[in-house]
Amino acid sequence: MATTNDIEKAAGVLRAGGLVALPTETVYGLGANAEDPAAVSRIFQVKGRPPSHPLIVHLGGAEQLDDWVEEVSTTARLLAERFWPGPLTLVLRRGRRVPLEATGGLETVAVRVPDHPVALALLSAFGGGITAPSANRFGSVSPTTADHVRAELGDAVDFVLDGGSCQVGVESTIVDVTGEIPAILRPGGVTREDLEAAVGYRLTVPSTSTVRVPGQHPSHYAPRARVVLVAPEKVIAEAELAHELGHRVGVLLPPASAGTPVKAHAVVALPASAAAYARGLYGFLRRLDQQGCDLIVASLPAEEGLGLAIANRLRRAAGPRPAV
Ligand code: TXA
Ligand code: MG
Repeated sequence: MATTNDIEKAAGVLRAGGLVALPTETVYGLGANAEDPAAVSRIFQVKGRPPSHPLIVHLGGAEQLDDWVEEVSTTARLLAERFWPGPLTLVLRRGRRVPLEATGGLETVAVRVPDHPVALALLSAFGGGITAPSANRFGSVSPTTADHVRAELGDAVDFVLDGGSCQVGVESTIVDVTGEIPAILRPGGVTREDLEAAVGYRLTVPSTSTVRVPGQHPSHYAPRARVVLVAPEKVIAEAELAHELGHRVGVLLPPASAGTPVKAHAVVALPASAAAYARGLYGFLRRLDQQGCDLIVASLPAEEGLGLAIANRLRRAAGPRPAV
């Protein structure tokens, strides 16, 4: 676990233009001083991420919002007050101190206040904003422990702050609040139901098949193994068929089938609660990769509450892969 000394050291690395991996309540981030274009550019190099793919600026408190963005609507203010610190990212008009390197050239910027003591301590010690995408290589599964970060990025990151396992486990919900009606761009740790309760009306969620947000490619959050999605009651039959055909099959076994023996290479018995599933999701996918699976058979959970974010990530993991 990170000590006060580690926090000071990490703040120094950021001031010197270096990269720090930091825990948040959602996933680990790969952080740089948001106002240092050279440091921000290094994030893209390390991740292998296209420079047009915008980053999230992390702030130490909601009261800093006006320093970083323009035109904060009543709805934006309401959502920030209700959900920060927490797994909600707001997209607003870019303020002047945000370099275009951080926004992928866009005139809008994504901002959030993370709900993790280590992240908040770092933001407070550093004093500025920290741009941080998830601390994984572009397109792969986000890290939810410091060990995941080290395994994925190694020496490419200057300092890793260990804050234990991420409590939420899937990324923040991204809401565009530049218009009158907020638009959910990515489902995540704050549920659609909670957002709707806060604003007082129904919100729409984009379908996974349309690439609307810059960089939201269909294949994302993907393990090495190919992911196949089937109906929950077909998971076992599909897995056993692929097993007989000689695949090294990993199974995400739905709670309804708990306890049923499955002929497969590796089986993860999924937790019944959506919160526990979200918390474990990326770790499960990593584990199946490590166990050498070449195929993962899974099904989508009910798309309500955190199930919406889990289903979104599974769909993307199963999406078409770019040719290599
Ligand atoms: O939970 C999270 O959000 C984590 C932690 C580290 O905070 N971060 C994260 O960052 O998931 P990243 O870079 O992996 O995903 C950020 C998403 C991208 O899909 C990007 O397209 C979107 O935010 N985004 C950033 N700026 C945007 C903007 N101005 N307009 C629309 N989408 C934006
Ligand atoms: Mg990411």
